[in-house]
Amino acid sequence: MEKLFNSTDAGTTLQTNHEGEMLEEILDRTGQSRLYLSTDPNIDLSQLEALCDSVGWARRPLRKVKKALENSFLVVSLWEIKGHQRSLVGFARATSDCAFNATIWDVVVHPRFQSQGLGKAIMKFAIRKLRSQDISNITLFADPQVIEFYRRLGFVLDPEGIKGMFWYPD
Ligand SMILES: CC(C)(COP(=O)(O)OP(=O)(O)OC[C@H]1O[C@@H](n2cnc3c(N)ncnc32)[C@H](O)[C@@H]1OP(=O)(O)O)[C@@H](O)C(=O)NCCC(=O)NCCS
Repeated sequence: MEKLFNSTDAGTTLQTNHEGEMLEEILDRTGQSRLYLSTDPNIDLSQLEALCDSVGWARRPLRKVKKALENSFLVVSLWEIKGHQRSLVGFARATSDCAFNATIWDVVVHPRFQSQGLGKAIMKFAIRKLRSQDISNITLFADPQVIEFYRRLGFVLDPEGIKGMFWYPD
């Protein structure tokens, strides 16, 4: 399949929308449809739910999703713009102590847009934003089938033997 975004980040342009929010145009696919990365945390929850549904994730209470977005340090969304309509086609968010550490959650690209370099674009954008805040320790929890995806972005499994540990209620 055609690569829509290359690893050198070439061809990206920065723009602002009418609210002054920074948008990064990463692609003009056909002249009618464009893809943008945004850091606006105000995302239509029904669109986010539909995106998570598209990859088969279990539904979560929208009231908690809303709270999670409000309390995230960084929210990255990828939008397809066609005419006056925009659709959410990718997403990731990060929580942080705002000084040393950030953890990336909920990385997702709609199946129709997968394998085109867009997951990588979202992750590189998120990492760049976190690094611009001088955050040096970026972690995430990888499902087994996507370890290679994250490894290719420079994430290391169990550095110095460190293991993630989890506590769940009984
Ligand atoms: C994981 C996911 C975000 C990847 O997004 P994507 O847009 O398809 O990935 P990209 O096209 O940007 O791939 C970037 C690189 O990773 C590789 N890659 C992508 N998914 C991979 C996978 N599951 N296993 C191994 N390699 C993978 C690609 O081949 C590509 O390699 P290259 O840079 O050498 O060409 C997407 O498949 C997805 O949303 N999956 C369902 C939700 C999910 O599992 N999220 C992760 C939860 S931890």
